[in-house]
Amino acid sequence: MSLSSIINNIPKAELHLHIEGSLTPELMWRLAKKHSVTLPYANVEEIEAAYNFEDLQSFLDLYYAGAGVLRDEEDFFTLMWEYLSRCFDDNIVHTEIMFDPQTHTERGISFDVFMAGFLRAMTKAKEEYGISSYLIMSFLRHLSEDDAFKTLEEAKPYYEHITAVGLDSSELGHPPSKFERVFKHAKSLGFKIVAHAGEEGPASYIWEAIELLDVDRIDHGVRCQEDDALMAHLKEKQIPLTVCPLSNLKLCVIDDMKEHNIIELLNAGLLVTVNSDDPTYFGGFLNDNFNALHQSLNLDEHTVRTLAANSFKASFLPENVKADFI
Ligand code: HPA
Ligand code: ZN
Repeated sequence: MSLSSIINNIPKAELHLHIEGSLTPELMWRLAKKHSVTLPYANVEEIEAAYNFEDLQSFLDLYYAGAGVLRDEEDFFTLMWEYLSRCFDDNIVHTEIMFDPQTHTERGISFDVFMAGFLRAMTKAKEEYGISSYLIMSFLRHLSEDDAFKTLEEAKPYYEHITAVGLDSSELGHPPSKFERVFKHAKSLGFKIVAHAGEEGPASYIWEAIELLDVDRIDHGVRCQEDDALMAHLKEKQIPLTVCPLSNLKLCVIDDMKEHNIIELLNAGLLVTVNSDDPTYFGGFLNDNFNALHQSLNLDEHTVRTLAANSFKASFLPENVKADFI
């Protein structure tokens, strides 16, 4: 079997996926028409052509604007259903999905609207595809800690449907320390904790996420190599990194996929996983990320199987369920 077939056929978990970053240009166009939203594009091709980014912020500006077409429960259902259907095609059997409530509540769209759509699609995917999915509620780090506290409070009716709390958006200038109190509170409520760190930000932000936020996983974390003591700590504690190769390329964290350090990190004994981040903006879903790594770094079958096993090891699934895939 070719490596590409192995990549396609092996069961995988995805652990770093922003649902708003799975909005296809086609769906964006359709919803803009439905709600009479004026987009700064003449057609779907122009939307696609706009996806050229020079850094994280240039992407986030388009990503938040794109999310503006999501208005009613059916929109959020369709967004989630399209992603989970794609998971079925890619043989993703479990996924832990980030959503950014503040992107919607700031526009006057309440938890009741987006959560109803998300949960309906997640239930249908479990029934029809056998796919399990968890939700990770992410705070926008360019907003205040008070705003994050308010969001945590607003989410109260949905706590039983939320597995973890995360931190995303503009990294530089918004270190994890800014959110120490709200993550302490979230931890005390029983949530798992994740945070984006070391994507554009320095290794010290990864340390802060570990020491101040008590994270269960680091999202991205590729700048950990700048600090030997951090590398040793990540290895010893087996704190997972959810790495997103096509995202790193598209946001100019690396200049060429051949430079990606994921295999060096794996060989150094770190628990790394492959993920798609914002697949429709970055040019590929999960299997595309595996294939891009294979093309540039010549993965072998053992490495693909290790990365797939890691995706379950690093997940928040119960240990007995993980065991079936490791
Ligand atoms: N980094 C930070 N925030 C994000 C990202 C990312 O890659 N994608 C969506 N929000
Ligand atoms: Zn991300």
